Amino acid sequence: MNSLQRRILTDGDVLPGGILKVDSFLNHQVDVRLLRQMADDFYAAFQNTKIDKILTIEASGIAIACYVAERFDVPLVFAKKGRHKNVGNDVLTAEVFSFTKGTSYNVTVSRKYLQPGERVLVVDDFLANGQAVLGLKKILDEAGCELVGAAIAIEKAFQPGEKLLRDAGIDVKALAVIESMSDDGQIVFRDED
Ligand code: G4P
Repeated sequence: MNSLQRRILTDGDVLPGGILKVDSFLNHQVDVRLLRQMADDFYAAFQNTKIDKILTIEASGIAIACYVAERFDVPLVFAKKGRHKNVGNDVLTAEVFSFTKGTSYNVTVSRKYLQPGERVLVVDDFLANGQAVLGLKKILDEAGCELVGAAIAIEKAFQPGEKLLRDAGIDVKALAVIESMSDDGQIVFRDED
């Protein structure tokens, strides 16, 4: 069991409706030592892949992605949600539908930060329905970049995201793959080895 899996078992809270709360260490209060260990685990998973850049999506992906970018020693770019006046006109945009929130939002990246031919690793905190990563893939396709993989902290295998991404040919690696969560707090991880 890796550091993130252990931490989920000790400090994660299961909410009704298949939601895992990780606010105390990952996406509100942040344990930076854990993030550094996660970055090492992501590095081990993708060390044989040539990576030029890390791409994530605001907000919760950014903290994790900072450590991953530092570990791979490459720049980090984060896609912005909504319309931003200060991003400039030459932007790449994708619409993302959030099943959890029931609404769509736009994600935007300035074209100058994604150059054609760059090999990009996408990082995010949760993989649930997969729409966020597919939106980032659309942006990378438009930029002429290659999406070399998706490094996900927590994948909820009981939601459709994983299959959607694999069907799209994306190499998905998650540190904690949750097979099931019950309302009484029981969490079952997929055995990865
Ligand atoms: P997707 O991210 O795979 O496309 O799925 P979905 O649209 O359903 O997810 C919507 C938001 O809810 C995402 O964050 C996602 O990270 C988050 N989320 C999904 N499942 C869980 C869960 O079990 N626990 C927690 N804590 N979050 C979950 P977001 O709206 O983009 O928010 P943020 O990154 O700005 O915080």
